[in-house]
Amino acid sequence: MDTANQLASVGTFQVLKLPLGFIRVLEWLFAIFAFATCGGYSGQLRVSVDCMEKASSNLSIGIDFGYPFRLHQVAFEAPMCEAMRRERVFLSGDYSSSAEFFVTIAVFSFLYSLVATVVYIFYLNKYRENSQRPLIDFVVTVVFSFMWLVSSSAWAKALSDVKVATDPDEVQLLIPACKDPTNKCGSVHGPGWSGLNTSVVFGFLNFVLWAGNIWFVFKETSWHKGGSRLASSAPDKQAGTFDQQPYNQGSFDQSGSYSTQGSFDQPSEYSQVGGPTSYSNQM
Ligand SMILES: *[C@@H]1O[C@H](CO)[C@@H](O)[C@H](O)[C@H]1NC(C)=O
Repeated sequence: MDTANQLASVGTFQVLKLPLGFIRVLEWLFAIFAFATCGGYSGQLRVSVDCMEKASSNLSIGIDFGYPFRLHQVAFEAPMCEAMRRERVFLSGDYSSSAEFFVTIAVFSFLYSLVATVVYIFYLNKYRENSQRPLIDFVVTVVFSFMWLVSSSAWAKALSDVKVATDPDEVQLLIPACKDPTNKCGSVHGPGWSGLNTSVVFGFLNFVLWAGNIWFVFKETSWHKGGSRLASSAPDKQAGTFDQQPYNQGSFDQSGSYSTQGSFDQPSEYSQVGGPTSYSNQM
């Protein structure tokens, strides 16, 4: 059976059981994981500088960094190993462009797939009425899968560079006092990487989802349908417009009777009307 026919024959939320809708839901969930794990990251490494002149040593220098990984702006105080003096040392490298690109794609991808999910659920007929909409959806899906591939690759490369630049053994080399062999520098601990490794995995998973959905969106386009529009969308639309109307009127009538009820002017009249008004009269 054709996907288009399937979409027309299913109920509102049933759209989510079909690949197109289901993958869209996964897309925005996975986009959240991608930008939350990358954008919310903060890590710490710790090094020790054990000077010849013991008093000026600092055996636990903590260095904090995080998104967006402008490491050249991350500074810490290191002992100079002479006369208790300390100096500011900066980490090296700026990985913000890759990190921000990745998070930006994730955020826009989240917004688009969320809006698309809402459109499929509530406006599927409108979506399919105009052959341009599936076409736009198709083009956007192709662009996003390409962007996920590029940004995930760029971010994976940047992450491997960040790992080197924040390796305590590498950071020691930046501390001038450590160049003197009489002072002993060591690493206490490195930063944790599980969050950022997860973000790269979710980046590539998002690429797989978007690339996979290209096919299911393509099936919605007129290119695939060969221009034969399906008329089966009409019954759904009628059902949608007619079911709210009577309920709305009913609730308006009731609210009117309740407000006059407050004055207790005409209790006998209302008790004869019956139904909800006689019930409210007992209060
Ligand atoms: C060692 O460096 C940390 C900063 O990482 C600082 O808070 C601490 O006061 C320093 N300790 C000494 C003994 O200078």
